[in-house]
Amino acid sequence: MKIPPPIAMLAELTHRCPLSCPYCSNPLELARQETELDTETWARVFREAADLGVLQLHLSGGEPASRRDLTQLVLAARDAGLYTNLITSGIGLTERRLQELDKAGLDHIQLSLQGTTAEMADAVGGYKGGFARKMQVAEWIGAIGFPLTLNAVLHRHNLHQLPRALEMAVEMGARRIEVATVQFHGWALKNRGALMPTHAQAKEATRIVAEARAALKGTLVIDYVPADYHEDYPKRCMGGWGSSGLNVAPDGQVLPCHAAQSIPHLKFDRVTDKSLTEIWYRGAAFNAYRGTDWMAEPCKSCDRKLKDFGGCRCQAFALLGDATATDPVCVKSPQHGWLTSQTQAELQGADAPALGDPVAGEAGDVFDTSELT
Ligand code: SF4
Ligand code: FES
Repeated sequence: MKIPPPIAMLAELTHRCPLSCPYCSNPLELARQETELDTETWARVFREAADLGVLQLHLSGGEPASRRDLTQLVLAARDAGLYTNLITSGIGLTERRLQELDKAGLDHIQLSLQGTTAEMADAVGGYKGGFARKMQVAEWIGAIGFPLTLNAVLHRHNLHQLPRALEMAVEMGARRIEVATVQFHGWALKNRGALMPTHAQAKEATRIVAEARAALKGTLVIDYVPADYHEDYPKRCMGGWGSSGLNVAPDGQVLPCHAAQSIPHLKFDRVTDKSLTEIWYRGAAFNAYRGTDWMAEPCKSCDRKLKDFGGCRCQAFALLGDATATDPVCVKSPQHGWLTSQTQAELQGADAPALGDPVAGEAGDVFDTSELT
């Protein structure tokens, strides 16, 4: 099989973050600050990424603004010839810092949105004053003129705010909005009972997105990640394992996707031991589920196998304990009925304010859904 070079690299600069969203995609075992790669090592990794063929670099976290050397890192990435996108909650960015990032050549900002009101956003992020701060940062971003994508993460408690999120994107001058229904990995899986949208909400969101796409054509591009437990077929996760993107964790482990560490038998190479090229083409973790040879039935003989590559490997492992299994979101999976009945059970009493014993992302605060009613 001919392996193409990756197009994009996600650099998880740190797992530190002032927010503690209950759906955070940080792993449950966070890399500690003292294990984070230093500036010089990241700069070398960026050069290696460009040599490998990477075009876009997403600077992420945790909260990447928690890194004091963020501007230096952007400079290094630009020197390497990479297109740079900062994925941020906005917390930790000042006007001056944004101006420095602009001068350093940052190409694009992706700002997360936990809710469209302070009440919702601050409760979800577990950070009082976070929404007001974010709105201020959005103004600075607009004034400096960074191309902006708004990233609205939606779940049962804030899906009704989708129309306002779309309006806000237009008001902020964003070129794109990512309407991302929570995917159940890491903390989100722990909090699934509290976050799962109802079937009616999932359907309504799809309708709103379709309408808005038509109405805002030419003004705003809308990317949509639907609530996959309510779909018939799974998402094409990472565009297919090891096919177009790679992640580098804060401690230098190179991962095929952000949740790959949740598959315990996989071993990950580090940028401190091997070159990115070596890891991408020959790393055991990258080759574990590349292409279609690893598939079992029903994926193996399915005519959609090149469309969705059997769905998400991390989800198959998290739900079934087998990373080679068909993602149970798929109607053809023998476990699809089991997943549907679990979803139904979790949605029983979905309107009740307190739902189980949810867990927060980092600081250990409990996600108190009663604040959101
Ligand atoms: Fe995709 Fe596998 Fe389902 Fe076919 S059986 S649609 S390849 S997940
Ligand atoms: Fe890992 Fe989907 S998140 S393959």
